[in-house]
Parts: sequence; structure tokens; C-alpha cells
Amino acid sequence: MTADLDLQRAILEWRARAAAEHRSAAQAARLLHLGVVLGLDRAHIDALARTVADELDHAALALGVARALGGDDAPVDVELALLLPGPGRGPLAEALLLCLTELCVGETLAVDLFATMRAAATQPEARSALDRILRDEPRHRRWAWRHLDALLRLDPEGGRRLLNDALEGILTGFASAYADVPAALDPGATGRAAGLLSGSTWRRVFWRTWSRQLRPKLSRAGLEAPRFAARAEARGSLPPTGAVHAGT
Ligand SMILES: [Fe+2]
Ligand SMILES: [Fe+2]
Repeated sequence: MTADLDLQRAILEWRARAAAEHRSAAQAARLLHLGVVLGLDRAHIDALARTVADELDHAALALGVARALGGDDAPVDVELALLLPGPGRGPLAEALLLCLTELCVGETLAVDLFATMRAAATQPEARSALDRILRDEPRHRRWAWRHLDALLRLDPEGGRRLLNDALEGILTGFASAYADVPAALDPGATGRAAGLLSGSTWRRVFWRTWSRQLRPKLSRAGLEAPRFAARAEARGSLPPTGAVHAGT
């Protein structure tokens, strides 16, 4: 990849990250709303309100990195359709699925991925944005699993049945986005300095986080994905698909 192409990719990646962070803010705000409706304890509501503010800050920081790399000031497109509530579910079912997918799994992956990006980043704005993101994400991860426990206490049996039915699909979706990055998208020196990761690094971090973090945390919550776990054991056979945009 030429240096200019590498730089353009880094700009696009940080702009995509800004959109992903904005989407995370909308999802945390949706869970905040549902949490108030469902009567979650005030500590959960306050933590979610802080998460919303953090994610909006992350979006602004990501856009700032893109600008520092030479990107323009054009607003970032957001997929508004993704921000609409799920179809025809009650508030508890929607809150459970949202919490598990976007907060528990999403934030847990984000901590390890952003830490890996930060370790190799040398571009000053990227380093400082990643520093702030890494101050927040471990707290988001910690609260995400607490939110899930609180929601499951409202309907332990039905809630676990719902989530266990959905879990294989949720994990497969994340594997497609995070672990199937084509090697052709590997960054050069400029991209690496701006915090971009190679496809093999995305895969390594994804599967390491699955085995060290996600699987034990899911199991503690009474959630299992036996087919996905078997696929993880036999990994290496995944066909490459599209690009990824971390941001939670
Ligand atoms: Fe974030
Ligand atoms: Fe987050």
C-alpha cells in the first residue's frame, strides 16, 4: 500500500470509528431509557448516563483524529435505521438483547482491541484519543455485565432462555465483523502509527478475548454458546469478509 493510500485509509477508519462511537452513544441512551422504564436502580441509570456522555466524547475525539490526519470537516454519516428500536419486543427483551450484544460483548471486545491499538500508536492525536477511550472502556465493560445481571434478575428463567437462543447468532455476527478481516487491508507504517491493526491482529485479539474474557463472563451469567465455542476450538477455517469499525 502506498503511503498516501495508507493515510487515506487511516482517515476513513477514524471517521468510521466516529460513526461507530456515535452509534454506541445512541445504544447506551436506548438502554438508559429502557432501564428507567424497567425501574433499574439509580446506580445503573447514572452509569448509563455517563456512558452516553463518554461515547459522544469518543465520537468527537475520533473525528478530531481524522482531521489531524488531514481529513475534512464533513459530518460523518450515521446509519439511522440501526438506531431504531427492535421490532415488536417488550422493553425487558429489548433491553436484555441490547445489553448483551452492544454493551457486554461490544465493550468487552473494545477494551482489548483499543489497548492493542494504543500499544502501537505513535501519532499524537491518535494516542491521546486512545488514552481517553481506554480510561472509559474498562468502566463500560464492568458496568455492562452488572446491567445484564440486574436485567436478568427481573426474569431469570425467561431472560436466560431469550439470550441463550440469540447468543450463537450474536457471536457469529461479531466474529464476521472482527475476526474475518482480509489481509489485503493491513495498514502500512502511517496506518499503524495512527492505531490501525492488521487483519491477523484483529483475529488474534478477537479469539483471545473470546477465550479469556467473553466465555467466562457469559458462563458466569448462565449463558452458553456451544456451537460457537466448538468453532473457536477449530478456528482458522473462517472465510474473509468485509471491513470492521470498532467503537463502543
Ligand atoms: Fe467508546
Ligand atoms: Fe464504550
